[in-house]
Amino acid sequence: MEPEERPLAITGATGRLGGRIARLLADKGVAQRLLTRSPERAPTLPLSEAVRAPYGDREAVRAALSGIETVLMVSAAEAPDRLAEHLTFVAAAAEAGVGHLVYISFLGAAPDATFTLARDHWATEEAIRASGMGFTFLRDSLYADFVPLLAGEDGVIRGPGAEGRASVVAQDDIAEAAVTVLLAPDRHRGRSYDLTGPEALTLAEAAQVLTDVLGTPFAYQPETVEEAYASRAVYGAPPWQVDAWVSTYTAIAAGELATVSTAVAELTGHPATPLAEVVARAKQ
Ligand SMILES: NC(=O)c1ccc[n+]([C@@H]2O[C@H](COP(=O)([O-])OP(=O)(O)OC[C@H]3O[C@@H](n4cnc5c(N)ncnc54)[C@H](OP(=O)(O)O)[C@@H]3O)[C@@H](O)[C@H]2O)c1
Repeated sequence: MEPEERPLAITGATGRLGGRIARLLADKGVAQRLLTRSPERAPTLPLSEAVRAPYGDREAVRAALSGIETVLMVSAAEAPDRLAEHLTFVAAAAEAGVGHLVYISFLGAAPDATFTLARDHWATEEAIRASGMGFTFLRDSLYADFVPLLAGEDGVIRGPGAEGRASVVAQDDIAEAAVTVLLAPDRHRGRSYDLTGPEALTLAEAAQVLTDVLGTPFAYQPETVEEAYASRAVYGAPPWQVDAWVSTYTAIAAGELATVSTAVAELTGHPATPLAEVVARAKQ
């Protein structure tokens, strides 16, 4: 089969972002192989087949990617061994002869990023660069879709974000941008795109947007780092996870999530979606 006739391999299709991407591709009549830990939960789409491929299972991933030219790799669920799973997936993709890997990374991915998980994204990018495969990195800001979940049941967003800003981005926009790249990977080979919303909001401004759109009061209450660890202790989560939660906010405070780029507009052909519209769409 010619590379352009082979199915695209899509991971994460049982989830929110990968599911959006798989549906958009199906609407365009694109054949897909959906890689998932649970094929029985994969969406039923035209021209698609679901195969079992946990990221940490090198042989399963290699078999699942046999004959595939282009792969979308959604970052895995937060887990203590997530980076090891990513590295296994990348190695298996290279062994399978994949030509181009599109990786959903994170804004400001760097070895010394304040957000602890952005360091793992950087290490994953480095492994992909070293693999010899073609690549495109989509470095997403915080998902706008998740902003309502930052608030407690009382509508208060608590965290050590100070007066920092975050350029929250719609998952719908990321999905459209990913489809543009997946359908013409050679045009985006070796590129990294910062995928952001149209503006960077303080957490107080984000709370005001939630208030305006949802019609119930939301507020932002800054915490110190010590207060943030204390207020999250009740969940009994492991230290790496609490570090990730808290450092989401300290990264905002440090200005590391404030970048606003034009990449969404360039890749999708329309302006990035504001937080208010994302929240309003989800409310419908
Ligand atoms: N930018 C942000 O603000 C932000 C916030 C939260 C998360 N994230 C990252 O963005 C990713 C996508 O977000 P989402 O909302 O689409 O998440 P989601 O709805 O939880 O979907 C995650 C998908 O990844 C797959 N997956 C997870 N771990 C895997 C593994 N070890 N091996 C194989 N497949 C695995 C899951 O598939 P199966 O369970 O079917 O195998 C699922 O389809 C998340 O996984 C996370 O890494 C980013």
